[in-house]
Amino acid sequence: MYFDPRPSPPTGDAVTMAHHLIGIDVGTTGSKALLIDQGGEVRASATHEYPMYAPRPLWAEQTPGDWWDATVQGVRDVLARSNESPESVAAVGLTGQMHGLVLLDAHGAVLRPCIMWNDQRTEIESSEITSRIGARKVLELTGNPILPGFTAPKIAWVRKNEPDVYDKVAKILLPKDFVRFKLTDAYATDVADASGTSLFNVGKRSWSDDMLAALEIPLDWMPEAAESPEIVGRVGAAAASATGLPEGIPVVAGAGDQAAQAVGTGIVEEGVISVTLGTSGVVFVTSDSYRVEPEGRLHAFCHAVPGKWHLMGVMLSAGGSFRWFRDTLGDTEVRIARSEKRDPYEILSESASTVPPGSEGLLFLPYLTGERTPYPNPNARAVFFGLTVRHTKRHMTRSVLEGVSFGLRDSLELMKELGVAARQIRASGGGAKGSLWRQIMTDIFGTETSTVNITEGAAYGAALLAGVGSGAYPSVEEACGRLVQVTGSLQPGESESAYESYYRRYRALYRALEEEFDAIARVATEHPT
Ligand code: XUL
Repeated sequence: MYFDPRPSPPTGDAVTMAHHLIGIDVGTTGSKALLIDQGGEVRASATHEYPMYAPRPLWAEQTPGDWWDATVQGVRDVLARSNESPESVAAVGLTGQMHGLVLLDAHGAVLRPCIMWNDQRTEIESSEITSRIGARKVLELTGNPILPGFTAPKIAWVRKNEPDVYDKVAKILLPKDFVRFKLTDAYATDVADASGTSLFNVGKRSWSDDMLAALEIPLDWMPEAAESPEIVGRVGAAAASATGLPEGIPVVAGAGDQAAQAVGTGIVEEGVISVTLGTSGVVFVTSDSYRVEPEGRLHAFCHAVPGKWHLMGVMLSAGGSFRWFRDTLGDTEVRIARSEKRDPYEILSESASTVPPGSEGLLFLPYLTGERTPYPNPNARAVFFGLTVRHTKRHMTRSVLEGVSFGLRDSLELMKELGVAARQIRASGGGAKGSLWRQIMTDIFGTETSTVNITEGAAYGAALLAGVGSGAYPSVEEACGRLVQVTGSLQPGESESAYESYYRRYRALYRALEEEFDAIARVATEHPT
C-alpha cells in the first residue's frame, strides 16, 4: 500500500511513490533525524550535536541557528544513508526540547539566544506572575503552576532585563518550531508543546486569552497551535535545497519531546505508565479526560493524541545524575572502558551490583540542577547522606541509581493519589538499557516494568505523527498498536521491602534540608566567584 499526500504526486510509478517518514528531534544535546518506512522499520538515523552555553550559574542557552544547521546535516545524512530517493519521503514530523524561548523580530531574525527548558534564572519572575494573577487562577487557566523553566516567565525576564530586545519582538516560538519555521516558513506549534508555556489553556486546547492579557503579550506573537498529526506547513524551496527534501512535502505539527516519546513507545491509552530515563527523568501517563493534580505538582498537558491529555512528573537530573557521577568520579572506569571498548556506565553498574540494596545506609538526593517534581524548587541541591568510612565508590554509584529511582517513585505516588491505575510501567531512554538500574527501579516501584521494541525515542513518535497526518495510519493509537510491541519485563524482587524503608528516609531527608537549600543558595549569591 503506498500513499502520497502531496498536492501533485508523481504519476504511475509506484517505486517513486512516497512511503517513507522522517522524524526530527531537536533535543538538548543534538538534533536527531530518523527515516522509517511505513512498516515502522528504521532505515537510517543521524544525530548532530550542538553546544549549550551557561553564561551565568543557573542559565542555559542555545543558538537556534545551530539547531537548524544540525537538522539540515541530519536530514541529508538519513537520505544518503537510507539509499532512498528523497521523492519517497511522504511527510516530516517534528519534536524537541520543550519550554525554550525563541524570540524573532518582524523579519524572522533571531533576537537573542534561546533561553532553554533547564534554565533557572526566572525564579523572581515566576513568583511575581503567580502572585499577580493568583496561584489558584493560574492553575485554573493553564492546568499548571508557573515554573521557572516554563516559557512565560522567560518572556517577563527579557521584558525586564533586555528591553531593547523586547521592543523588537514580533514572534515567539518553541525550539522545534524554529526549525519548522526554517523548513516551511510557517509559524506554528502543537498543543502538547504549547501546554508547557504557561500561556495555553490546556483544558480547551487553545491559547489562553486571559493569561496573554494578564502578561500583556499580543496573541499574534504566538504561533498557530494545532493537534499533533495535523499538517501545518510544507517544505519551502530554500529548505528543500538545503536538506535535499522535495519541495512541498507536508510537515505535521508534531509534539513536545515527552508527548512524542510517549507516542514512540505506545503510551497512548489509559493504564500504562511510562518512565523515561534521559538527562531528565519523566513519568508519564495518558488520560482520556482533562485532570489536574490539586496542587499542580504533576504537569497536566495536552497529549499528541487528538482529544487526549497526559499527566507527567519531571525530575531534572535523572540520567544527568549518573552522567555527572561518571564525569566527576568515573575517570578510572572511563579509561578502562576506552581500552576494553566498553561502556563506562556498564563498568560502574557492574561494581554497584556488588553492593546491597540501600547502599548500606547511603542515600543520594538527585537535585543537581534544582528540581521540578514533586518539589518545584530551583534551590534544591544534590546530597550524599549517610557516608561512613565503610562506603566506597561502588556504594556511591549504587546510591545514585537508587536516589534517581526514589525520585521517579515520587511522581508515581502523586499519580496513585489521583486514582491513576498502573497496570504496567514501561521503561525507556538511555538509563533503562542497564539491567541493574532497571531492576532497582522495578524493586523501588514495586510494579512490573517492561521494555518495548522501539528505542528511537521521540524522533520515532514524530515520524509516526507524520504518518498519521499524511494518511499512512488511520490514527495515532492504530499506528502504535501496529508497530510498538513489549519485548521483555522484570518483576519486583526481594529487595522491595528494604526499599520501602529507605524510600521513607529519602522523603524525610528533603524535608529536613529544605530550608538549608535556600540558605546555602543565599550564601552563594552573596559570595559569587
Ligand atoms: C518536559 C521537559 C523536558 C524537556 C527536555 O517538560 O522539560 O523533557 O522538554 O527534554
